[in-house]
Amino acid sequence: MAEIVLDGVSKSFGSGQRVVDGMRLRIRDGEVFVLLGPSGCGKSTVLRMIAGLEEITSGDLWMDGRHANDLEPRDRDVAMIFQSGALYPHMSVRQNIGFPLRLAKEEPGETAEKVTEMARALGLDGLLGRKPATLSGGQRQRVAMGRAMVREPSVFLMDEPLSSLDAGLRTELRMEIGGMVRSLGATTVYVTHDQIEALTLADRIGVMRDGVLQDVGTPQQVYDDPATVFVAAFLSSPQLNLLGGTAWAVRDEGIVISLGDQQITLPWSDPRAHAFVPHHGRPVIVGLRPESLTPVAEPSGGPVLAARLRSAEFHGHEWMAFAEVNIPGVDVDAVGARPKPRPEEERTDRPWRGLLRRRPAAPVEEPRHVGQRRRTDLLFRAGETRSMVQGARVNLAVDLDRALFFAANGRRIDTPAR
Ligand SMILES: Nc1ncnc2c1ncn2[C@@H]1O[C@H](COP(=O)(O)OP(=O)(O)OP(=O)(O)O)[C@@H](O)[C@H]1O
Ligand SMILES: [Mg+2]
Repeated sequence: MAEIVLDGVSKSFGSGQRVVDGMRLRIRDGEVFVLLGPSGCGKSTVLRMIAGLEEITSGDLWMDGRHANDLEPRDRDVAMIFQSGALYPHMSVRQNIGFPLRLAKEEPGETAEKVTEMARALGLDGLLGRKPATLSGGQRQRVAMGRAMVREPSVFLMDEPLSSLDAGLRTELRMEIGGMVRSLGATTVYVTHDQIEALTLADRIGVMRDGVLQDVGTPQQVYDDPATVFVAAFLSSPQLNLLGGTAWAVRDEGIVISLGDQQITLPWSDPRAHAFVPHHGRPVIVGLRPESLTPVAEPSGGPVLAARLRSAEFHGHEWMAFAEVNIPGVDVDAVGARPKPRPEEERTDRPWRGLLRRRPAAPVEEPRHVGQRRRTDLLFRAGETRSMVQGARVNLAVDLDRALFFAANGRRIDTPAR
């Protein structure tokens, strides 16, 4: 019903810096697109520009093939749902849901029928005569959704519609929202800072940071193949382990990444290894999700990090453990933050110049990382390790296939093609 195209859309308030910066995005007809990012990154501002509630400073907005920068909100055929679904307090649930239809001067019989149908779909049948003040938060939010959906707009804009609800209700309504907007076939832009909500609800996710779109893709793409270290860390739950190291291209071995007094090697047979060559001798960031680290009794040939157990936490369905390694950590907030990273200057002229013939003897004089910390606690799924005592040595086998590698400016070294 409607494709939404943002072509270099920016927004600044007054003479301040851009809170949305050169956004380029094509939201497909009928898809559920989730804009994800931390507080203050500009999500609501983007949504409000699409709704026509906020003027666009520069760039172009296209909706359904029409240039929409100057379209009145009422001419955009959008319905917006906010965090606290504001209802008309003096109207009953029935009147609230039917309000947009009455405004559009629909025939009363038809209005009544649509309201009844919408109330049934949202599980509000028994509450049609009640006033908002007598409803729970979850019920009120359902009424707000019913009111937005009843006139079947071609675009839904939802701004953290579930964030004021408790966890159980959130999961339930999330599934309902997904089902309903898909069955209506409307294009939906859904804003949230909750990565689980984004991963479970979206057809595609756009991840924002400081007004800039960092990555766009299906949930699986942005999770498995994040474009930047920020995206990887933001989508990881439990947290992503980030280690600061230095990449060394070693002729007969591959890419040796020295990590403090340890190292892991990406053999030349790994298709990612060649992308490291321009980073020879430079700082790199290794991202390891807890699921990429497995405690093993004895190192069995593959890459292993030796660590010292610090603590274990019971999470109900599993134990998570922290183990300390003598490897610099990386503070993701300090990497690639504004001023925006410029593309890494790549030494493509003679990439093999200066290649090492042998692996470097540790310790190596290493370039420092932005936001570097001296030691890191690695988080991993503990399995049997929970019986181990604090301070015990633990060997963590690294699943190299799932490891993520970033340059010091936070961009992926083996850039995903999307
Ligand atoms: N009317 C305004 N005047 C000045 N600055 C504004 C205005 N509205 C938003 N901003 C600023 O623009 C930036 C982005 O705000 P926005 O509300 O879009 O963020 P958000 O991603 O929706 O955050 P949250 O998750 O907290 O809702 C913030 O720094 C905010 O302070
Ligand atoms: Mg917001």
